[in-house]
Amino acid sequence: MKNIKMTFTPENFNRLVMERRSVFPKQFDPTQKVPNEIVQQILINATWAPNHGQSEPWFFKVFTGKGLATFATLQSDLYKEAAGDSFKKDKLLKLQEQPLMASHIISIGMKRTTTKQIPEIEDIEAVACAVQNIYLSVAAYGLGGYWTTGGITYLEKAKVHFGLEGPDKLLGFFYIGAIATPSPMGKRKPIEEKVEWVFE
Ligand SMILES: Cc1cc2nc3c(=O)[nH]c(=O)nc-3n(C[C@H](O)[C@H](O)[C@H](O)COP(=O)(O)O)c2cc1C
Repeated sequence: MKNIKMTFTPENFNRLVMERRSVFPKQFDPTQKVPNEIVQQILINATWAPNHGQSEPWFFKVFTGKGLATFATLQSDLYKEAAGDSFKKDKLLKLQEQPLMASHIISIGMKRTTTKQIPEIEDIEAVACAVQNIYLSVAAYGLGGYWTTGGITYLEKAKVHFGLEGPDKLLGFFYIGAIATPSPMGKRKPIEEKVEWVFE
């Protein structure tokens, strides 16, 4: 790798991966807004995720400023319409209030590849890789955020509001904010439970 200056070390990267944490809206400082340029770079990083057959099967919509209230109204209206007997006042309040605590909310869409024979799960996997790039980028900027698949994520009627249609899928929302209360250290099971090595 001649002439390429390493600006980060594997040790730094390992720390970024292991110290990244989900940070939830109640832990954000709602008075601090993240510059749009940073969110734009985070999304550029998302699009550098691996994807089968150059399908780039992602579509993101970013809500910020007054867009957060637009998003809150949209998701609470969709919830009210769909909830039926399972309607819960607490859930509605959460859908109305939580978006306003964030600086930016990004909808995570999977645009189904139709021009090539890519299995659907691989389009979903590629978007999940993009979301991990978002997670790591957010952590690298010292910001907080998390992926939620709650609320209206799996409502068929929600898709159209996030640039999706037909075989596309809404995979949730990524909330970003400045951290007021950091998350505690993460925990993982021993690696031996998750990996088997074969030497011969
Ligand atoms: C596909 C996916 C969906 C998730 N959905 C939710 C969710 O709906 N609500 C939530 O509180 N956290 C959600 N999370 C975040 C997890 O709660 C979080 O990643 C987990 O607690 C591990 O913590 P860490 O991210 O700090 O390692 C989701 C994460 C993934 C990968």
